[in-house]
Amino acid sequence: MNLVVGATGLLGREICRLLTDSGRPVRALVRASSDPVKVARLRDSGADLAQGDLKDRASIEAACRGASAVIYTASSTLSRQPGDSIETVDRQGQLDLIDAAEAAGVRHVVLISFPGTETDFPLQSAKRAVEARLQGSRMTWTILQPTCFAEVWLSPALGFDVAHATAQIYGAGHNKTSWISLHDVAQFAVAALDAPRAANAVIKLVGPEALSPIDVVHLAERITGRAFTVQHVPEDALRAQHAAATDPMQQSFAGLMLYYAAGDVVDMADTLRLFAVPPLRSVYEHLQSSLLQSTHEV
Ligand SMILES: NC(=O)c1ccc[n+]([C@@H]2O[C@H](COP(=O)([O-])OP(=O)(O)OC[C@H]3O[C@@H](n4cnc5c(N)ncnc54)[C@H](OP(=O)(O)O)[C@@H]3O)[C@@H](O)[C@H]2O)c1
Repeated sequence: MNLVVGATGLLGREICRLLTDSGRPVRALVRASSDPVKVARLRDSGADLAQGDLKDRASIEAACRGASAVIYTASSTLSRQPGDSIETVDRQGQLDLIDAAEAAGVRHVVLISFPGTETDFPLQSAKRAVEARLQGSRMTWTILQPTCFAEVWLSPALGFDVAHATAQIYGAGHNKTSWISLHDVAQFAVAALDAPRAANAVIKLVGPEALSPIDVVHLAERITGRAFTVQHVPEDALRAQHAAATDPMQQSFAGLMLYYAAGDVVDMADTLRLFAVPPLRSVYEHLQSSLLQSTHEV
């Protein structure tokens, strides 16, 4: 049995889909407060549902019982209920889950983290504490560190709106990042369950090409045939926000935007030799599908 924690999230839903499509048993952790439409889709796809919350230790102990693997994608950053915070969910909740998985005899935990960044912030320290606890456990572990998800950072939610030809860029926009599609992150997470060289490994995940935010705007202009209106959030403003923030979530958002502004390029050749995954999605494909989706929504 494969327990997916974060099953109602963007990435968790895709992981559950890949698991059920390949005929593997899935137990999806959902909350009483989770979106009923997402919960119904999980149930209809054949996943078993386990109701629980990372703040309720007994519920996660019950969810781990009988599971052989856990794929962990949950985070309080975008989907929050009262009482959810970086401290209660991303740090303590995840540490408790590792304890519960170990006590229940889970064999393999796949953790979705992110790459180390120069600037420190509460979400980063929580992720590092959880990585260290998992590495010290008796279980087989795989720590995946994807870069920026195209579906999040190159989406209207963060100001990159292909349909309306507008883009918000964090920093000057000249540093390159190897944007990754969350669909590919899901493929890697599922493949990690079977790839012998993914056992006890920290693996950085990036997409197939490095593009600066300005390159992405030019690509989007070619696809749409429209000139984009571009707004920049200066790096100095992000540094000031990071330094002045008293709220751990706000400081973490500033830290993540500084990571985007700095850029991150990695050669994936070695990683691709470790995993059997389909060809990675390009930013071009992501932009085209965003445009198509927005046309359907109109
Ligand atoms: N976005 C990026 O560019 C990026 C890059 C690298 C790594 N990552 C990592 O990727 C992971 C997945 O991101 P995502 O986009 O799928 O996130 P998401 O869509 O916000 O999903 C978060 C999930 O966590 C669950 N959750 C939150 N608090 C919980 C709690 N107290 N107990 C149980 N479940 C709880 C949510 O459940 P409900 O639906 O019930 O709220 C939801 O299923 C995160 O760990 C993130 O740090 C993201």
